[in-house]
Amino acid sequence: MVEDAFLRNRPRNSKPDRLLDGTMASVNSQDITLQLAGRGDAQAIAAMSRDLIESGLGWEYRPERIRAMIADRDMVTLVARDGDLLIGFAVMSFGDEHAHLVLMAVRPAGQRRGIARRMTDWLLETAATAGVASIHLELRALNKDAHAFYRAIGFTETLRLPGYYRGRETAVRMIRVLRPPKIVPQPLPWRPPSR
Ligand SMILES: CC(C)(COP(=O)(O)OP(=O)(O)OC[C@H]1O[C@@H](n2cnc3c(N)ncnc32)[C@H](O)[C@@H]1OP(=O)(O)O)[C@@H](O)C(=O)NCCC(=O)NCCS
Repeated sequence: MVEDAFLRNRPRNSKPDRLLDGTMASVNSQDITLQLAGRGDAQAIAAMSRDLIESGLGWEYRPERIRAMIADRDMVTLVARDGDLLIGFAVMSFGDEHAHLVLMAVRPAGQRRGIARRMTDWLLETAATAGVASIHLELRALNKDAHAFYRAIGFTETLRLPGYYRGRETAVRMIRVLRPPKIVPQPLPWRPPSR
């Protein structure tokens, strides 16, 4: 947490540097590389999910589940790296009309540097290119930071779902519309054939 406080207070465009133990990399968002996750990222992603997303709920997104998501052709798992350090990740599943933002997190030391915004922009552009009409997500109602983040990037709250998480915590459902949904053409009214 000391690391986090230190890095949070650095100016946004300060040059990259490392803490004395060498474990924390730069969090200047310009130095962050976005790329598709590999199988070797599953452990770090699962640990971040446990600590930053599922805290207090029980750990569902374990490494084997994350590995399956990385391998799933209908999902995109994106990672943000600062050098060797995986500093953020996001997972989106794609359907024909809808996409679902399943998980997203940025390590505390990297937050408020535009990393989640960059990952979301990447995913939204991919979704728009794939012809997706809308992006959907759920988050814990108590998670005010994530709520503020999703509102800031154009998501709108649609619904509250009591007990959605393990039967005991309320979820907020949010949506961002990318294009109007396809209008299914109405069949022409039947008329008797002309003689
Ligand atoms: C939510 C989360 C992913 C945001 O990541 P981030 O990289 O810090 O977000 P960004 O820096 O891209 O923020 C973009 C904008 O969102 C808004 N925002 C982000 N975090 C915010 C916060 N804690 N409070 C208020 N607004 C916030 C701001 O408008 C911000 O722009 P600004 O910094 O110029 O004011 C991050 O806080 C996180 O990992 N939280 C823990 C895990 C989690 O809750 N995941 C989401 C549910 S699955």
